[in-house]
This record gives sequence, structure tokens and C-alpha cells, in this order.
Amino acid sequence: DAALSDTTVNTVVEIAREAGEMIRRGFHKNWPYRTPFAAASTASEYDVKQRTDPVTDTDRAVEAHITRRLRATQPPSHRILGEESYDGRVESLHLTADSPPTWCIDPIDGTANFVHHIPHCAVSIGLAVGGRPQLGVIYNPILDEMFTARVGGGAYLNGGRIYCSGVQQLPDACVVTEHGSDRSQAKVDLMVEMVRAILRSDVQAVRCTGSAALNLAYVACGRFDVYVEWGPYPWDIAAGKVIVEEAGGVCLMPHGAPFVLHGRGILATNRFLVQRLRFRDGELASNTGIR
Ligand code: IPD
Repeated sequence: DAALSDTTVNTVVEIAREAGEMIRRGFHKNWPYRTPFAAASTASEYDVKQRTDPVTDTDRAVEAHITRRLRATQPPSHRILGEESYDGRVESLHLTADSPPTWCIDPIDGTANFVHHIPHCAVSIGLAVGGRPQLGVIYNPILDEMFTARVGGGAYLNGGRIYCSGVQQLPDACVVTEHGSDRSQAKVDLMVEMVRAILRSDVQAVRCTGSAALNLAYVACGRFDVYVEWGPYPWDIAAGKVIVEEAGGVCLMPHGAPFVLHGRGILATNRFLVQRLRFRDGELASNTGIR
């Protein structure tokens, strides 16, 4: 499959670097603040799609650039599913065995971090073939960290091989989860339930970083031992799923079912801890996957 060649990975890495340059420029544009209380002026750069899910001019420009570059370099039969150009239809997220190869693009994963000048955001580009992620590139341009993988080829950080951690017990584990942008009562309850279960499982540390893609990249290189979230879209996690699995990790749905790209959830961990996580079927509480 030409889609999986080294040339394709190299092309996508090049596109991610170009995107990264645009993100870096946007990130440093109005920061560090030169006058007191300057944050309000930087806010003019973004409008609010939804207050908890901001989108900036940079998100739109980066997605347009990646789309143009993929159209110019990849076969015309390939589809593009991008966060900012998503038509809002649930069916558009549903990639099946019959779906054409689909590029899942998040121009800036961690947009809220970007808006608040927190240097933890990344461009994420994944390719799903037959609904299964096959290639992933995640680039944090602020730290200049490029994570790459393709199925069967191993996972890499800036060209060096990476592996998931060898942590075997939850009390030694650093667990990351996210609250996402949905503030409905049901989602808030689910999140609180999830965090309670994680804390009760006596893990060493709990984190929320604001970037699903980087959470997966960090599981892949052993910085985090577990990442669990209900809510992410295919563009947040397609690339990271390949990178975690190629680093020796495991990806499931948060309640332990097999991973589904459009399932709006993920649990990623190493092959030891996955055996420590106990799943209970059919209960909301089981959604944490952590006991
Ligand atoms: C979001 C971030 C966040 C996660 C959400 C994602 P965005 O992506 O990764 O950490 O909780 O599920 O949608 O909106 O910054 O691209």
C-alpha cells in the first residue's frame, strides 16, 4: 500500500513541520505580554465556536494548509476529515472497512492551551485505512517534538525509537484524563465519576494537559502510563493510536471494549497496566475502566 510507504511518512512529517511553523508564529504573536493586562487584546484572534471549544484563525489557516498539501501529494481518492471543516454529521465520523483512506487532521490539538499561551499543543495528522489508523504524526512545534509511527514500523520521537513505560502497578502510575468541552450534566457527572475512580485506585499522580494527541504521544514515550477520556473525536486520536501501539502499548475504549475510531473515547496504556484495570459492564462507573 503506497499510503504506508516511508515516502508518505516523510511527506506528512514535512507537512507537520510547515503546520508547526504556522502554530509557532501564532503562539508567539502576542506573547510575552508587553503591557499589563494585555491578554484581552490577544483574544481578538479567536472567535468562540462554543465558549469551551475555541477556534482561532491559526486553526483555520493550518487546516487549510494541510488540506492543500495532502490534496497535492496524496491520491485523489483519499478523504480528509478535519476538525475545522467537519460538517457536524455523526455519520461523517463513522469510518468503516469500506471507507476510502481518510486523513484525520487536528490543526491544533490543545487550542485552549494555545489561546492561553501554554506551550502544550500540537498538530495531529493520522491516516485511517478501512476505518483503522495506519499512520500517525503528532508535532509539538513549541518544544520541537515530532512523534511518528506507521503500522509495523515502530514509533519514534525526533527520529529515535520510543517505547511505553514498564510501570506495572497503578500506585506507580501517572494517569492523564481530560474534561473535554461538553458541560452537559451527564458529561460532568461522568467526568467526576471517572476522576473519583482514578483517585481511589491510588495512582501516583493524575494530570489533565488539554491535548488528547499529546497525551497519546506521552503514553507512547513513557511519560504517562495511562490516558483515559470519553469525548475525543477521530482527529484527536487517530494518529496517537498508531503511535501508542507501535510503542508497545494498547488502545481500548475506556470501558474495555475494542477500540473504535468514531467511538468518542479512548484508553491507552502499557501492556502491564491494562491487566490491572478492571472493567465492569453496563454501568456508568465502568466507563473509567479503572478500579
Ligand atoms: C481537544 C483536546 C482536549 C480533549 C478534547 C479534544 P482541541 O482538542 O485534545 O484535551 O479533552 O477531547 O477535543 O479542541 O484542542 O483540538
